[in-house]
Amino acid sequence: MFIVQKKPSDAKSSEITPKSVFMNRRRFIQSAAIAGLIPGILPKDALGAGKGRKLDGIIKSSHSTNQKPTAYDLITSYNNFYEFGTSKDMPALMARDFKTKPWTVSVKGEVNKPGLYDFDGLIKPHQLEERIYRFRCVEAWSMVVPWVGIPLSNIIKRLDPTSKAKYVAFETLNDPMRMPGQRRPILQWPYVEGLRMDEAMNSLTLMAVGLYGEELPNQNGAPIRLIVPWKYGFKSIKSIVSISFVEKMPPTSWNLSAAQEYGFYANVNPEVSHPRWSQAKERKLGGSYFSPKVKTLKFNGYEEEVASLYDGMDLKKFY
Ligand code: MTE
Repeated sequence: MFIVQKKPSDAKSSEITPKSVFMNRRRFIQSAAIAGLIPGILPKDALGAGKGRKLDGIIKSSHSTNQKPTAYDLITSYNNFYEFGTSKDMPALMARDFKTKPWTVSVKGEVNKPGLYDFDGLIKPHQLEERIYRFRCVEAWSMVVPWVGIPLSNIIKRLDPTSKAKYVAFETLNDPMRMPGQRRPILQWPYVEGLRMDEAMNSLTLMAVGLYGEELPNQNGAPIRLIVPWKYGFKSIKSIVSISFVEKMPPTSWNLSAAQEYGFYANVNPEVSHPRWSQAKERKLGGSYFSPKVKTLKFNGYEEEVASLYDGMDLKKFY
């Protein structure tokens, strides 16, 4: 999230707009656009979607928060997806022509139904749900996102892991031709993530295939990504091509990159600061630029559903 690698080809510092000016201008444009002050930038109904293919037969989930979702245009234009660039606005641009059909997901390891599943084969047998979740990034901003997906537990039950499976490991597509960000060693590619089996089986953990009732936009991790709403956003791996059931804790991208800053668990926790900044507050994206930050809730507000997963664990140690 915060690794900057300088290359000789990078612009000279004198050519770069000072970050504060750039950020202020971008925030102003975003806030004004969302508020409808800049005609033509956003559709009339800035909250709505209407850009992708509609998904049918979605049921509403009782797991949704009743908070108002962040505007579609903000969710789809302020992204972290390093395979398509390291700034927030690059993925929407750079992933525009990324082809996600056909798409296969390989299932392997300690599982009774391994194989190469095509996207429909993995998803179609399940009921799609809309889950409106709070989403908290480790960079201390947050959104409310109306995901469409399937509880990961439903998929796992069908794949039937063996008793040796203690963790689930996920991998993003590794294809520098299609994912230009992978041509630079910003992270070790492919992006990898993992969950303990009980975390993966928790009823909140979702495999998302859409948002705002439509197929996932490429920049948000099409065609299939993980959502773990009580953890920092970097656990929510995008464009998954591999699911492995394993005995040992699998490596995770940000932990490989900076272990002292990003742990395996990555539970949202206002009491445990990142080594370089506090996690006690967050900026809700979509508000006015002058809106005050709000307090971050333990487990991102999902304490009741997930705190027992970590009974007896020192969350300062297992960050
Ligand atoms: N998955 C992959 N493959 N590559 C990434 O760079 N970024 C992570 C996560 N999943 C990332 C990824 C981070 S840091 C965050 S905060 C979320 O995706 C952002 O999801 P969003 O862009 O849909 O808000």
